[in-house]
Amino acid sequence: MRLILLGAPGAGKGTQATFIKEHYNIPQISTGDMLRVAVKAGSPLGIKAKHFMDSGELVPDDLIINLVKERLTEPDCINGYLFDGFPRTIPQAEAMKQAGVAIDYVVEIDVPFDEIIVRMSGRRVHPASGRTYHVKFNPPKVEGKDDVTGEPLVQRDDDKEETVRKRLDVYVAQTRPLVDYYADWAAHSAEGSPVKAPQYRKISGTGSVEAIRQRVVEALK
Ligand code: AP5
Ligand code: ZN
Repeated sequence: MRLILLGAPGAGKGTQATFIKEHYNIPQISTGDMLRVAVKAGSPLGIKAKHFMDSGELVPDDLIINLVKERLTEPDCINGYLFDGFPRTIPQAEAMKQAGVAIDYVVEIDVPFDEIIVRMSGRRVHPASGRTYHVKFNPPKVEGKDDVTGEPLVQRDDDKEETVRKRLDVYVAQTRPLVDYYADWAAHSAEGSPVKAPQYRKISGTGSVEAIRQRVVEALK
């Protein structure tokens, strides 16, 4: 299984990815998680990425494309992969197509923006694993602690309301055009592309985490 989870910041991509990656035994390739690791480690990539992330802007395409291409050479990608938060610009999607990176499904998770603001304000994460909780909608078993390791949960630096609004603007301007991009590709799939067009599935991302999980399962049948 090779798929892309597409959706606005806070749509629940990371939350659903936790289940999908276990179900299909594939790695979750979250460019956001990888960048946060790089920032924390103070690597050259992290140093370049930090101010873009803190201001809610996208990190430049060339850095992201190289990061993902390198990740795809690791042996755990042999059975497939789940892209979470990537691609999020047309040039990123085009670079994957040109590199012959195959995708079976693009699953768009659709959530109204006013609900997203509420979700982000209560989000807590376990930085080492990327596991995500919400203080009210998806609480950990023990308050403030990761369910698996018991380690402390933290709030993300870019979850301040003004930064969330900026990220939503960036999503509309730079990532939402991918919806048409994949639809057009599917409609003209015979025209000399190095890889087959993915199937496009749009699901509603409102309701319980479990209800959305069921929709994902249905969408991938
Ligand atoms: P990234 O980490 O990818 O953030 P994002 O796309 O903005 O998405 P989020 O992680 O915020 O949301 P999510 O959809 O995963 O939602 P979640 O499951 O956590 O990117 C961060 C930054 O890195 C970017 O701004 C950019 O600077 C940079 N970057 C990353 N990739 C890049 C790329 N490809 N190109 C350029 N720059 C890049 O859920 C959110 C909350 O809602 C949680 O609290 C969760 O518990 C809760 N929740 C989930 N489902 C439900 C539900 N059904 N009901 C109620 N609450 C729910
Ligand atoms: Zn995420």
